[in-house]
Amino acid sequence: MLRRLHPQQPESFAFTPANQAWAAAQISKYPEGRQASAVIPLLWRAQEQEGWLSRPAIEHVADLLDMAYIRALEVATFYFMFQLQPVGAVAHFQICGTTTCMISGAEDLMRVCREKIAANQHDLSADGKFSWEEVECLGACTNAPMTQIGKDYYEDLTPEGFAALIDEMAAGEVPVPGPQNGRYAAEAKGGPACLTEGNEGRAPHNASAARAVALGDTLKRIDGTEEPLRAPWRDGKGDAKPVPKAKAEAKDKPNAPAAPAVEGSGPAGISTARDGRADDLKKIKGVGPKLEKVLNSMGYYHFDQIAGWTAAEVAWVDENLEGFKGRVSRDDWVAQAKLLASGGETEFSKRVDKGDVYD
Ligand code: FES
Repeated sequence: MLRRLHPQQPESFAFTPANQAWAAAQISKYPEGRQASAVIPLLWRAQEQEGWLSRPAIEHVADLLDMAYIRALEVATFYFMFQLQPVGAVAHFQICGTTTCMISGAEDLMRVCREKIAANQHDLSADGKFSWEEVECLGACTNAPMTQIGKDYYEDLTPEGFAALIDEMAAGEVPVPGPQNGRYAAEAKGGPACLTEGNEGRAPHNASAARAVALGDTLKRIDGTEEPLRAPWRDGKGDAKPVPKAKAEAKDKPNAPAAPAVEGSGPAGISTARDGRADDLKKIKGVGPKLEKVLNSMGYYHFDQIAGWTAAEVAWVDENLEGFKGRVSRDDWVAQAKLLASGGETEFSKRVDKGDVYD
């Protein structure tokens, strides 16, 4: 299926403060220089917040992770879990249309979608509350046919039962996810034929459905306040450190550079590039498009500026590159900049010149 960005895009995107803190915690799972590994959870969070992924949202995530926009776009356009167009305000149904679901009635579910929501996939219902699409196997084949909303499954559906679910959701209710035909989980339809003991007094819902009920976020946009922002991988004891306010506010503006996180004085900067021609700081290994913007915003445009930083100045810049702390010394920018300022090349700068690194 061709997956393209929607022709109508919002002006900007920003995580809620709580989601921004959650994103910072996710990023902290990975070592310096490997923040791009957080791209899927951050894109997913952006989608949970807005319902779909706009271009500003994808670029915002790319900025947070110091990724080229095209890299984040590649991820967002590849996986059909990411919605690239506005979805229903209440629910977007992903109907499994693969073999088991298809022979168990998926086409009848899609007929219900056409009748009650919209004739075409991805179109919004007249009241804007619902949308739908057919997707590939969602791994719940023993409970076919089924549909996914967000991260929850409604399984063992009939056309009549599915239509009733839509009506309940339209009325503001949140039906319990999981099997809809009385099955507890994925046991035989006539009841379990083995392991029959010990089921008395069990919880009313299977673990997945019970968790969905407990979280209560099946039909809800996620603003980040729903769960504690724990990040035990940071130091084994603390909550995630929120992204500094200045940085969070800078993110409210598209393409705005991140503000320095720490007060104090660093190496002297200049107000604009000499002769209006900045050096391509991306030739320094460890400086991506986002960091180059940040450095320019701090008054650093030229290799010879960075080449002249003292150890104390390196420490200051390292500390002030919130989200990229330690990058200057880790990649020894000063040594690289000295070479580049004298007209030399590094293996990395040669790759940049050849267009192998950035699009
Ligand atoms: S075939 Fe539908 S969930 Fe696998």
